[in-house]
Amino acid sequence: MKNPVVYALVACALSLANAHGQDTGSATSVTNIGLKDAFAAKFLIGTAGDVPRGYSEAEVANIKANYNIITPENCMKPQSVHPSEDVFTWATPDALVKWCQDNNIKVWGHTLCWHAQTPGWFFQGTNGQPVTRELAMARLKSHILAEVGHYKGRVYGWDVVNEAIDDRNGGQTENLRNDSWFRAIGPDFLTLAFKWAHEADPDALLFYNDYNIDSDTNLDRGNPQYTGKHASSMLLLKRLLQEGAPINGVGIQGHWHLYTSISDVEKAITDYESLGLKVSISELDVTATGENSGAFPTRGGGGPVSPEALQQQAKVYAQLFDVFDRHAKTMSRVTLWGISDRRSWRSGQRPLLFDAQLQPKPALQAVLDVGAGKGMAH
Ligand code: XIL
Repeated sequence: MKNPVVYALVACALSLANAHGQDTGSATSVTNIGLKDAFAAKFLIGTAGDVPRGYSEAEVANIKANYNIITPENCMKPQSVHPSEDVFTWATPDALVKWCQDNNIKVWGHTLCWHAQTPGWFFQGTNGQPVTRELAMARLKSHILAEVGHYKGRVYGWDVVNEAIDDRNGGQTENLRNDSWFRAIGPDFLTLAFKWAHEADPDALLFYNDYNIDSDTNLDRGNPQYTGKHASSMLLLKRLLQEGAPINGVGIQGHWHLYTSISDVEKAITDYESLGLKVSISELDVTATGENSGAFPTRGGGGPVSPEALQQQAKVYAQLFDVFDRHAKTMSRVTLWGISDRRSWRSGQRPLLFDAQLQPKPALQAVLDVGAGKGMAH
């Protein structure tokens, strides 16, 4: 456990700073060292957002101080970038990429092939018929070549396929979702997507990305959910490698909660490492209250969060970063899914390191302590 006195002192320093009229940008200076520096020799530290439009000065300062890679939260998804067959809307992601280049921050592309936030035109055939396999393949190929090609040399890596594994099964099969791309093309859509992405930018890192693949028995409020997803992910990744998919790594999304099994997370990292793959934690958040699913929609929370829950959240974050730290050779990147509890897809559940006012939470100091080698008690 971390010492509550330390947190009380930090909170006290913060309230004094605010009482003296400093803006929320002072939050990062209180901790003196940014997250990215705390893990500089180990792995990249990222955040998600569609920067810079709509971000306050304090938020921009916070991003520059803490992160060295950004995942566009929505603006590179098929729905945003390719709303109809002949239309590409590059303005927002182009602004993001330029801003990141200007500020020496890398960009992680998210995402090329997904069942969600993907417009229906991809799957419409002629005369009201479902799309044929050939047409779906041609569309996926031209989408990937266009987007990866557009950002060639400017995007560090891509989530090529997102969330292809279904939620509940025993893990004896790949258990692919019976969803749009799978129905249209069949199980080889993944290998094809990786090959096309590699063709468009041979230097970009290419990852498979999914949630709850770190466990076979993930519980949601005590109920077994998402059973078998880790075992299914291993079967899937082995096949992709056998089929020659140019895959560099796997993104464990990391939408976690106060009762996430840390040993399952560590086992998953070790298992992926044994396949010769890199690992990233691609969408990290740890809910402090409310429902703890990694899937849509997010529900619950919204009320006050007890100090005990915030301490427990800090402990879980510290345990997780302790694992990442010990597996630094395998870890490519740890990306938090947003900069503050206000800028979170599950803001009611207070899942991030900075609160809704961009003030550090106990979890921030706990993570910085791990980076500083102060370790943590298990
Ligand atoms: C979420 C964004 O954070 C929201 O703003 C948007 O409304 C829905 O998508 N898994 C993913 C991300 O891979 O793209 C999702 O992001 C969160 C779950």
